[in-house]
Amino acid sequence: MKKVLALLLALVLAAALVACSTETSSASPSASSAAPTSSAPASDAASPSAPAAGGKIGVAMPTKSLERWNRDGAFLKKQFEAQGYTVELTYSDNDATKQVNDIENMIADKVDLLVIAAIDSQGLSTVLKDAVDAKIPAIAYDRLIMDTSAVAYYVSFDNYTVGKLQGQYVVDTLKLDVNDKSKTYNIEFTAGDPADNNARFFYQGAYDVLKPFLDAGILKVPSGQIAFDQVATPKWTTATAMNRFQNILASFYSSGTQLDVALCSNDSTSLGVTQAIQSDYKGKNTVVITGQDGDEANLANIIDGKQSMTVYKAVANEAVVTVDLGIAMLKGEKPDGALIDKSGWKFSCTFDTKTYDNNTGIIPSYLLVPTVVTIDNLQKELVDTGYYKMDGKYPKAVG
Ligand code: GAL
Repeated sequence: MKKVLALLLALVLAAALVACSTETSSASPSASSAAPTSSAPASDAASPSAPAAGGKIGVAMPTKSLERWNRDGAFLKKQFEAQGYTVELTYSDNDATKQVNDIENMIADKVDLLVIAAIDSQGLSTVLKDAVDAKIPAIAYDRLIMDTSAVAYYVSFDNYTVGKLQGQYVVDTLKLDVNDKSKTYNIEFTAGDPADNNARFFYQGAYDVLKPFLDAGILKVPSGQIAFDQVATPKWTTATAMNRFQNILASFYSSGTQLDVALCSNDSTSLGVTQAIQSDYKGKNTVVITGQDGDEANLANIIDGKQSMTVYKAVANEAVVTVDLGIAMLKGEKPDGALIDKSGWKFSCTFDTKTYDNNTGIIPSYLLVPTVVTIDNLQKELVDTGYYKMDGKYPKAVG
């Protein structure tokens, strides 16, 4: 009898052990169980009770008319769902009021977490107060959300570095030397949407690299348009950038003035500027044209020699960081740099607690690394990595 009881007991214990190991293996490989001690500054952002996998995530994207967001939304949805969460994904046609409504609906639907790429970085403080009241934490995705402490974390690329890379590309391509004033070059600037907090970081990064050459008179701006508000492009719209640039060419380049550089903050604006140069610029020289995002039409222009470079940002990885961060938050953790150390991510990412102050204090940020892509490294950086596949002569984004 004792032997039988002992045998039964051993069997029960063995069964219990098996149950534990299965639980561990089902957790996302990058989310570890050890709750890191957080150095993240306390914010009002709600700390949720940990919904079991199967919680609901509200993902609010700006628009489908700017190419990359289609990929961001798809990656976020796919990756959260792969972890057992349901996703409410919205696109708000670059209409800030519509995005507020979409987020209000998500709050009413009792999502457990909000992931928001803001259309108007300064237009969400009211609706996010409702999120705090409903104990729903928010992650600012790619674009910082201002004037609200409802934002627990920010995930993006190093936006200032994006601009620096564009500026440095111009310096390297023209072989600018601040001590060599024997030759001067004409440059025109096109920046992004004033409502987008990123736009000023991109522009400032590029401007800071080029300023010594502007000050030295090596780089000249025939239109005189340098201040951010003079060169900004509301909603990042291609047509707006094209129209402005056609006016600049007509006003300042019609009598044979040479244009050497068109510094554009991203690909949707670069596409418009390239169209204006193709149709209205009389000069025979190849204009150095910058961009950002790796939009398919712009990669085709790079292959055809119409655009010089783009700064590529692997948004698939930006989604990976956001999903792992979101899951850790939903488990009641307060992630910090340790999330990166234990993540197993195959890409670089830094944890920053200095750069991004949204007027309510520093927002702890996970920043990924942007890459310069030209015709020389496009195959290696975009196709061999699997982010794009070649479709005939031109690359197509994967996913
Ligand atoms: C920025 C984003 C860029 C670019 C731009 C227009 O916020 O960081 O990658 O896409 O919006 O969508």
